[in-house]
This record gives sequence, C-alpha cells and structure tokens, in this order.
Amino acid sequence: MSAAAEKEHTISIKPHEAEVLKNLVQKYNVNNALEVGLAYGASAMTMLGANSQLTLTSCDPFQQADYQNSGLDKIAGAGFQSRHTHIKELSDRALPKLLVEGKTYDLVFIDGDHKFSGAFVDFHFAAQMIENNGIVVFHDMWMRALILIRSYINNNRPDLIEIPLNCANMCAFQRIGQDKRDGMVFNEFFTRKGYIKYHINRMAWERKTVFGKTVFKIKMILKRR
Ligand SMILES: C[S@@+](CC[C@H](N)C(=O)[O-])C[C@H]1O[C@@H](n2cnc3c(N)ncnc32)[C@H](O)[C@@H]1O
Repeated sequence: MSAAAEKEHTISIKPHEAEVLKNLVQKYNVNNALEVGLAYGASAMTMLGANSQLTLTSCDPFQQADYQNSGLDKIAGAGFQSRHTHIKELSDRALPKLLVEGKTYDLVFIDGDHKFSGAFVDFHFAAQMIENNGIVVFHDMWMRALILIRSYINNNRPDLIEIPLNCANMCAFQRIGQDKRDGMVFNEFFTRKGYIKYHINRMAWERKTVFGKTVFKIKMILKRR
C-alpha cells in the first residue's frame, strides 16, 4: 500500500463502519444530516449513497489544504453535489451559526476534532440541533476523549438514549425528549474503560516508537484479512 493510500485507509471510516452508518440512515429515515470532518469523503459518500433524498451539510476547514479536495471531488464524481453543502470552517464556529439559523438534523455524525474539548463542543451544539428521534453518531470510540464523552452522555443526558450498534468504534444516541436538566445537575462520568487500550492504540497511530510501529503493522495485517 502506498503512503497516500495508507493515510486514506487510516483516516477514513472502515467498510464495516460505513455499513453501520448506512443502516442507521436507512433505519431512522435520515433525510437531513450534518457531518463534522469530511476528509476523504468516506462517511459523506456513505450517507449520501444510503438515501437518494438525503441532503448533507459537512464542515471541515482543512479539505483543500490537507485532502486536496478529495472528499468534494468524490461527492461531485458520484453526482451528489446538488444534495451536499460544504462549510469551510472550524466546527466550533460553524455549528453555533447553524443553530442560530434554526437548522435541525435527523443525524449528526461527529468525526472532526478528536480532542475532548472539540468533540464535546461538537456534541453540545449537535444535541441542540437534533430532531426528536434524531441521532448523534460518534466515531473513534477507542479514543479516551470519546469514551469519556459517551460516559458523560449516558450519565447526564436522560433526553438521549444510546442505541446499540454492531460496531465497537462507533456509538449513537437518539433524542427521546427535551433537555430538562436544572442548573446544578452533574453526575460523575469518569471511567477507566479503555485507558490502556487507548494508549497502545495511540502509540500505533503515532508510529514514533518501535512498539508503536510494530502494533501498527500487526493491526494493518489483521485488518487486511
Ligand atoms: C478522521 S477525519 C474524518 C473522516 C471522515 N469522517 C471519513 O470517515 O470519511 C477528521 C476530519 O476532521 C477535520 N477536522 C479536524 N478538526 C476540525 C474542526 N475543528 N472542525 C471541523 N473539522 C475538523 C479534519 O480536517 C479531518 O478531515
């Protein structure tokens, strides 16, 4: 595999994850979706291809500089551009504007900034734009920040329930009511789950050490099977 192909493979959702996303779009009749993090367009193409009525707004300021517009080119190549709007802004700038404009979505896919602060802010705005029965989907659940956000939602947001997914690296929450928490509510959400797994996977992702490089190679071999 070339370095470019390896980068695309590492960054994009995998085929079994795309299948899970496609099933969510179809099962929950998603017609209007928002995505944070376009990259090579794998998840965007999956959603647009899963329902010919679906309109997608994606948000990613690095599409040209880091991905040479590859995601946008794939969407145009498939003839989906009339159902797609791309916002070249950081999500913490773009999502508040969409909220103020009164935009709502059946599904929001969060796969942009994976730091706790960035992903939590994406969730904070996404949760306010999700229609009743709509869903928020997270990718990269192996990451410590995402594990804690999932735990936060499960412990603090009775208006959102987790939908079981057949995919360890993704999770989804459905809106089942309004957010009626009072100003004092806070339930502890710290969890040790995934702590060691995250640090091993991070070393593999960074490939700076012999250990990290070896784990990465093993993972690539296992994934190709
Ligand atoms: C893991 S990739 C997304 C992969 C894509 N969802 C897929 O599977 O096809 C993360 C993307 O988020 C974008 N990104 C990072 N920080 C962001 C931010 N603050 N706002 C919007 N996009 C961001 C990056 O440019 C990158 O394209």
